[in-house]
Amino acid sequence: MLSHKSNSMSQVYLNGQFVPPGQAKVSVFDRGFIFGDGVYEVIPVFGGRMFRLPHHLSRLEASLAAIRLRNPHSTKEWKSILSQLLDGHANADQSIYLQITRGVAPRDHAFPTNVTPTVFAYAQPLNYSPAAQLAEGVAAVTAEDIRWQRCDIKAIALLANALLRQQAIEQQAAEAILIREGVVTEGAASNIFFVKDDRLVTPPKGPFILPGITRDLVVEIARANGIICDEQPIKTEMLRSADELWLTSSTKEILPITRLDGKPVGRGKPGAMHAKLFALYKEYKQAFIRGEVD
Ligand code: PDD
Repeated sequence: MLSHKSNSMSQVYLNGQFVPPGQAKVSVFDRGFIFGDGVYEVIPVFGGRMFRLPHHLSRLEASLAAIRLRNPHSTKEWKSILSQLLDGHANADQSIYLQITRGVAPRDHAFPTNVTPTVFAYAQPLNYSPAAQLAEGVAAVTAEDIRWQRCDIKAIALLANALLRQQAIEQQAAEAILIREGVVTEGAASNIFFVKDDRLVTPPKGPFILPGITRDLVVEIARANGIICDEQPIKTEMLRSADELWLTSSTKEILPITRLDGKPVGRGKPGAMHAKLFALYKEYKQAFIRGEVD
């Protein structure tokens, strides 16, 4: 049963209840803890409205289906749970994290039967990229994509992604651009866009990348505004000739990458195409906040 009482942000949602974070307890035999057996979503909240919620819920549905876990909640129930996490923060920009694991069972790789999934969600203020990062862009490094073959599932098992991001940090970079068999897949926690001669290119969807909600929105906005945007493989050697590179994610939005492996990308500054697309994105966001688009 869902509790419907009002909640402050100091409360998290766990298995039907809203409780202070310190009181939210999960068994050590939860398969999320033991096997990383679960999926998650990160949903940005702008002006108190959950941005692209239907897209996030349908990707969640796809992730759950891929790991053969039934969605524990209807769309209506998800909306009710998530909006209660936002109560008291009506106009604030937040990010919602939600995760579902296969639940608690004696440790055995095989799926348990008759187990209730564990559902956890919380909201926190959205940490926007610092102004300096938007003004200057960030550094990235290329790294071999050491992940598995189902990166399209938004799985909570993120050890490879964490190792790759840490590898970037230790080289004074903000993100690792992952390379599999000579082509770019995505970032450790972002999708990648390449700009050359006023055309945008982003890797096509498939098992090796997460179908990013921000990625899809950038493609949609570009095409709606007459900007050519191809979904095509980006070979590693193409990266060197980029006019611009960007990373996209729900929390980082559209961030220019201005240094790659220690060398400038294009002129080493955020480019004109970024300025154009980011302005269009912000317009879309404002229209969303005003309730003019869903
Ligand atoms: N990560 N690719 C990977 C591997 C990611 O982890 C993410 C986002 C993206 C971008 O997807 P979206 O535009 O839907 O946020 C691509 C989230 C933000 C995270 O793990 O915190």
